[in-house]
Amino acid sequence: MSYGFFDDANREYCIRRPDTPYPWINYLGSQDFFGLFSNTAGGYCFYRDARLMRLTRYRYNNVPADAGGRYFYINDNGDVWNPSWKPCKAQLDSYECRHGLGYSVITGARGGLSATHTAFVPLGDAAEVHRLELSNQSGGKKTFTLFSFVEFCLWNAMDDAANFQRNFSIGEVEVCGSEIYHKTEYRERRNHYAVFSANRVSDGFDTDRESFLGLYNGFERPDAVFEQKSRNSMASGWAPIGSHMFEIALEPGESTSVIFVLGYCENPDDEKFESPGVINKAPAKRLLAKFQTDAQVERALEELRAYWENLLSRWRLTPRDDDAKMLKVSRMVNIWNQYQCMVTFNMSRSASYFESGIGRGMGFRDSSQDLLGFVHMVPERARERILDIAATQFADGSAYHQYQPLTKKGNLEVGSGFNDDPLWLIGAAAAYVKETGDWGILDEQVPFDLEEGTEVPLMEHLHRSFDYTATHLGPHGLPLIGRADWNDCLNLNCFSATPGESFQTTANFESGVAESVLIAGIFLYYAPDYIEICRRRGEAEKADRAERAVSAMKEAVNNHGWDGEWFLRAYDAHGKKIGSNECDEGQIFIEPQGFLVMAGVGLDDGRAIRTLDSVKERLDTDFGIMLQQPAYSAYRLNLGEISSYPPGYKENAGIFCHNNPWISIAECYAGRGARAFEVYRKIAPAFLKDAVKLHRTEPYVYSQMVAGRDATRHGEAKNSWLTGTAAWTFVNISQHILGIRPGFDGLIIDPCLPRGVKSYKVERLFRGVRYAIMIDNTAGVEKGVKSITVNGKPLTGEILSDRDAEVIVVMG
Ligand code: BGC
Ligand code: NOJ
Repeated sequence: MSYGFFDDANREYCIRRPDTPYPWINYLGSQDFFGLFSNTAGGYCFYRDARLMRLTRYRYNNVPADAGGRYFYINDNGDVWNPSWKPCKAQLDSYECRHGLGYSVITGARGGLSATHTAFVPLGDAAEVHRLELSNQSGGKKTFTLFSFVEFCLWNAMDDAANFQRNFSIGEVEVCGSEIYHKTEYRERRNHYAVFSANRVSDGFDTDRESFLGLYNGFERPDAVFEQKSRNSMASGWAPIGSHMFEIALEPGESTSVIFVLGYCENPDDEKFESPGVINKAPAKRLLAKFQTDAQVERALEELRAYWENLLSRWRLTPRDDDAKMLKVSRMVNIWNQYQCMVTFNMSRSASYFESGIGRGMGFRDSSQDLLGFVHMVPERARERILDIAATQFADGSAYHQYQPLTKKGNLEVGSGFNDDPLWLIGAAAAYVKETGDWGILDEQVPFDLEEGTEVPLMEHLHRSFDYTATHLGPHGLPLIGRADWNDCLNLNCFSATPGESFQTTANFESGVAESVLIAGIFLYYAPDYIEICRRRGEAEKADRAERAVSAMKEAVNNHGWDGEWFLRAYDAHGKKIGSNECDEGQIFIEPQGFLVMAGVGLDDGRAIRTLDSVKERLDTDFGIMLQQPAYSAYRLNLGEISSYPPGYKENAGIFCHNNPWISIAECYAGRGARAFEVYRKIAPAFLKDAVKLHRTEPYVYSQMVAGRDATRHGEAKNSWLTGTAAWTFVNISQHILGIRPGFDGLIIDPCLPRGVKSYKVERLFRGVRYAIMIDNTAGVEKGVKSITVNGKPLTGEILSDRDAEVIVVMG
């Protein structure tokens, strides 16, 4: 069954029926103000921090699904409907939702009236713009009533969903013509309010939810709408909302539009009020003045398009017209994959339809990895991000697991002691320097734990990261795992027996025994970059020391990390093997196979191929590679959260998409292009075809997890959008399969392809220079570059040009 299609020319996904298998959402916003917007207009918006500065209310885990949004109701002589189908769900004569880059457009029509709802966050403004274009497509005159609706959140989303004894008494609003102001807590310590306005005179309004809906009604049956009469209610406590009413008449063929702005405004503390108790509306007036006409809205949309065109023009694949699979690759890599990378840049793991915006902030490990997918698009902002992340690091090199975007402070509520964390900072910094050539970042002064007076150069943070791993080793000389490593759920030192206790924060009995082979892999993968950076900065002694640590680590892996057919996963707190043929369950894990081969271990002695073959044999499915097998069938005290999940879900043998690209990259290092591509394809949404319904989540972005073979719902995805899969997939396809990889001295070109890919072109903006790179694989090989010419001159090694360059790469 088809729910929609890719419209590549417009860079949109077009949904053709509203009852998608799950809400299919889009993100609005690019800097400070963000909205989540579903194909039925559900979702919410916030300023900077989804927990602390939430403008509108959204009900996670409610029924019906996806409750709350920016709704428009039409009452056409007793016939009540929404252009977005929900919440009334009146059957539409036609429906279409186009999710584009930073905007969405929903068009619904019924009874000869068509309504197009365009939603976006204009660049540089802290507001959502919602324009409703109405057109009478019937043969007769139409008179109808239009209602808008948003429900305000009392700012702190956590408190909003819990502290009712206070919240039901504090809601306050002001109404000024068509401007509805939500000003709860402005009377005291807040200096910000929300405004919801329309660009035409309204014929009524509501600001009190109960008055608008009726006490026992849901969004699908607002009394005011059904009775075609706003109550002009003024909220006093309870639940403040914003709703306008307009009586509209349209001649046959006539159209009109109403522009709504839902914005965030701030005042200096001494300018909060224009008269006692009355808020200073000056910032709101300035904002609203920008969106009074269709021409203004069109211009803002144009600017948004130009913004995305600029971002996406930095990396663009042009396949041959007759290469169907590469056309799908280009749809992903040119549009949706990069778009998703930017969303993870903005959101980290904070707000999605699976992340409530109150639980998690910016991840140390997550943001460092996400950076790999956006550093080429927004290098300046990536720079800032690296410095922010590093500033939360502890002086001993370890890290808070997360920090809050608003305060940038580490957040202990989500734990620390994940021993892989520090290494990802090296990965991020190396990727940034390779992309930009900006070595200066390493001299930036950055504090520890955001404490004034502790500033040291960023380079010192990298030393501490490296040394943390190098000095926290267990009995086999492998890195101690701490609370867990990349796999948050492999909690080898927790031994939690208390129901409901968080594995992320519960007491962690550092055994000094439990070791991670994966951390060894990450260490070995990033060590060469670290050493190279040290050398180039003249820190030879550090580099030598690091080389000794690397040799020792390799030896430890060789002696204690190989299980015969694949790499071991870990040693538990009793020194027992995990991820070994000797285990009854959890015999083989994906992560170390990927990372150790990426780090080059086993490439010269056959173990790389053996382990990758074991992965294929034991972990592969039609929907991607599972995290481990066999799944744990019962909870195990010595393993923690991983064994808490029912078999086939999440870290317990789910297809955890994040580490599938590691295998694909490893296959590239092993030179097996066909298999690398197969691994890429299996999790790429553009290749889903008939599985869209089973898959459930948006068919244009990656999801964190697809249920594994052991799950009843094998193939069903969850946790879409905010996943490291986006960044790692981009690294995989752009740097390894298509093979254009930044090095410290320039671009390295080394594709690894299925033999059938005969040619393609990549345009790449790199350090200010545009490269047009033509790959010629007429020879039909999987790997191997025979010659490279740059602007007609033969070249070996890394490519760096001082002017626009045409690069011809012949494989063979
Ligand atoms: C999930 C992990 C996640 C962790 C972070 C766990 O419940 O299974 O995927 O990384 O929570 O808080
Ligand atoms: C999701 C988390 O965001 C990420 O940090 C972690 O590595 C994976 N889950 C695996 O547990």
